[in-house]
Amino acid sequence: MTQLAIIGGTGLTQLSELTIVHREHLTTPYGDPSAEFVTGELHGKKIIFLARHGNPHTIPPHRINYRANLWALHKLGVRQVLAVAAVGGITPLMEPAHIAIPDQIIDYTYDRKHTFFEDDLTEVTHIDFTHPYCRELRTRLHKAANHANIAITETGTYGCTQGPRLETPAEIRRMEQDGCDLVGMTGMPEAALAKELGMSYAAISVVANWAAGKSEGEITMAEIEQHLHHGMAKTAKLLKAFVELS
Ligand code: HPA
Repeated sequence: MTQLAIIGGTGLTQLSELTIVHREHLTTPYGDPSAEFVTGELHGKKIIFLARHGNPHTIPPHRINYRANLWALHKLGVRQVLAVAAVGGITPLMEPAHIAIPDQIIDYTYDRKHTFFEDDLTEVTHIDFTHPYCRELRTRLHKAANHANIAITETGTYGCTQGPRLETPAEIRRMEQDGCDLVGMTGMPEAALAKELGMSYAAISVVANWAAGKSEGEITMAEIEQHLHHGMAKTAKLLKAFVELS
């Protein structure tokens, strides 16, 4: 199996089923990654795990050093990345605790270090981003969900906001008009940086809450934690099926 990494987000700071073999801190030309890289065996298959927000969870989405994270993973030989992240649900199927495997992205972030192609260039490079998520990895996730009997949505447009605040209902209405099904804060520039490095990348979006204005009242952390707990239990089963079928 090509070297696989799992990047865990909110609700997935550690992979409890990972048998840890090795932990290492790396530094990169872009600064320090979010946390140590944990190499281990997940259901008999070697993987590398990284906690996107640090361990403990202290780095907010707009302060994550996405370039250092992806560069270090590539340096460790990783060529496939599964990115787990909590999202808000915008369109009707995206109810709390549901899982979606998005196929498109709209980037609403700003002021993030979003490319490796910046300085000391011999030529200007524009990566193709027609398929921001790897179709082969996504198909394997669909098969794994089917195998594990987990109802998922196989497509969806992920809108990435700057955070760390949640959105206004008007912003969510605008995003829905743009075609977004899901809203999160960490999908970009992560997906684009993986592509710049030639790595296959797919996201497992775990719905933590209805996006702002999509349910009565305000969004509470207690609500998010409760749904994430359920969603992450399903994600663990999905990952188990994924590695077992690999
Ligand atoms: N908006 C943005 N990011 C999120 C949300 C949300 O509602 N829920 C979890 N991550």
